Amino acid sequence: MSSSNLVPLSILFFFTLLLQSAIGVDPLYHICSSSFNYSSGSTYDKNLNTLFNQLGNKVPHTGFRQSSVGHTQETAHGLALCRGDVSTADCKSCVSTAIAEIKKCCPNDKAAVIWYDACLLRYSNVNFLGTIDSENKVYLYNVQNVSGIESFNGKTRDFLSRLTDKAYRSPKLFATDEMSLNKIDKLYGLVQCTRDLSDLRCKKCLDDAINELPNCCDSKRGGRVIGGSCNFRYELYPFVISKK
Ligand SMILES: *[C@@H]1O[C@H](CO)[C@@H](O)[C@H](O)[C@H]1NC(C)=O
Ligand SMILES: *[C@@H]1O[C@H](CO)[C@@H](O)[C@H](O)[C@H]1NC(C)=O
Repeated sequence: MSSSNLVPLSILFFFTLLLQSAIGVDPLYHICSSSFNYSSGSTYDKNLNTLFNQLGNKVPHTGFRQSSVGHTQETAHGLALCRGDVSTADCKSCVSTAIAEIKKCCPNDKAAVIWYDACLLRYSNVNFLGTIDSENKVYLYNVQNVSGIESFNGKTRDFLSRLTDKAYRSPKLFATDEMSLNKIDKLYGLVQCTRDLSDLRCKKCLDDAINELPNCCDSKRGGRVIGGSCNFRYELYPFVISKK
C-alpha cells in the first residue's frame, strides 16, 4: 500500500470481563477513519451501497467476501468475514447488523471497520485488500488474573503459535483447539485471518498479534487481539460453537 494510509493508528485498550460465552449482538468495537468524508448521494456513496449489498448477499454462503466497486478515486473496497465456526444464519444476521451499524457509527466516512463476536466488516476508498492491516487493533481482556497455573504466559503463546501453524495452512485461514494446562484448567483458543491475505501474510499477521500478548493479556484469564486482517482469542472456558 502507498503512503496514503487513511486510517489513523489506533491501538485501543479495552477493559472487559469476558464472561459470557454466547455470541454477543453488540459490536466489540468500531473505528472510523475521520480523514475523508463523502457526501450523501455521491458516487462513492452509491459504490459503497453496492459494495454493502454484495457483501450482505455473498458472505453468508462462504463466510468471506472481498470486493471493489467503482472506478478511480471513487472506488469502494471492502470485505466481510464471519468467524469460522458460526452458522450461515448467524453469519447473515451479523453482517446485516454490521452494515447497518457501521453506517450509523461512521456516517459519511470513507473508511471504517467494525468488529463483532461473529463477524468483521471493513471498507475504504484505499485498496487495502491483500495487505496486512497493522493499524486498526483492539485489545480485549478479562481483568481477572490467572492463579496457580505454572508458566501460563508461555503456554498460551505456544498454544496460539501452534494454532497459527494450523490456520495459515487451512483454506479458511481459521483454527480452534483446546489444551490441558493442568489437572483442572483447560485453555481454549481460536485464530483467524481475512481470506484476502496469502497464507504467509496470514501467518505474519497472527505472529505479530501474538507478539502483542505481553501488552494486552499478561497473566489474564482471557484475551483477544482483534485487527483488521486477523485476530486471536483464548479463554479458560469453551466458547467455540461445535458443529452438529
Ligand atoms: C468528517 O465527518 C466527521 C463527522 O461529521 C467529522 O468529525 C470529521 O471532522 C470530518 N472530517 C473531515 C476531514 O472533514
Ligand atoms: C492482576 O495483576 C496485575 C499485575 O500483577 C495487578 O496490577 C492487577 O491488580 C491484578 N488484577 C486483579 C483483578 O487482581
